[in-house]
Amino acid sequence: MAQPHHDDVFVRELFDKMGPTYGITNVVTSFGFSEWWRYACVNQVSIEAGETVCDMMAGSGECWRYLPKQSVVLSIDFSSFMVEKQHERNEKRGQPVDVRCESALATSIESQSVDVVVSAFGLKTLSRDATRDFAQEISRILKPGGKFSLIEISVPQSSFLKVPYEWYLRKVIPLFGKFCLSDIECYRMLGIYTREFESCARVLPYFCEAGLDVTFSNHFFGCATSLSGTKK
Ligand SMILES: C[S@@+](CC[C@H](N)C(=O)[O-])C[C@H]1O[C@@H](n2cnc3c(N)ncnc32)[C@H](O)[C@@H]1O
Repeated sequence: MAQPHHDDVFVRELFDKMGPTYGITNVVTSFGFSEWWRYACVNQVSIEAGETVCDMMAGSGECWRYLPKQSVVLSIDFSSFMVEKQHERNEKRGQPVDVRCESALATSIESQSVDVVVSAFGLKTLSRDATRDFAQEISRILKPGGKFSLIEISVPQSSFLKVPYEWYLRKVIPLFGKFCLSDIECYRMLGIYTREFESCARVLPYFCEAGLDVTFSNHFFGCATSLSGTKK
């Protein structure tokens, strides 16, 4: 059974609460790597002009700037605060994104209608069962031959990095949360999710089971990991 901190309502409320400070805290605490990893996530699949791209668990639309201008973009997130931010971001875009406030595990997107799925930093809050459902949902909406790329912050395997990294997750990031949000608990949760998640390698089998060809990659010594590939 999923633990309470993987419950949809808990995760939605967490992001509604963190939303106002998420962007800045994310960049500062990752020393800017989060931007580089979003770029890597989008760029490890080639997106042709005019293709339909779905940004899953899109937050406030942080990945959109890396998507080709000519692509048709669908964006999924269930936090009403994040979705509100997406609408604000949309006003500055030439070609508006189709923003949908709903679960990434059961979207309203038509089957086999999407060329590319991208998702940055959403996997860690999903329980193992929810990850399986997410993999099935990606497979359902992708056209045959469609591509996907998912990236997540991970725990590096080398103990040289792992020990200071875990200390940083446990002690330093919550302090940023306290400083920015006066709430140490929200940002402490991000560390808990990351330590439990470990690496995309742990969830890779679910994506294979869903009929996807999957490649695993490490980014910066495993501080982030990704899964990318195609639907068979
Ligand atoms: C860590 S943020 C990542 C946001 C953005 N993709 C980025 O690059 O920073 C995770 C987002 O996933 C959303 N999310 C988590 N689980 C979800 C689910 N089951 N369905 C829809 N959105 C979900 C949260 O609301 C949050 O906005």
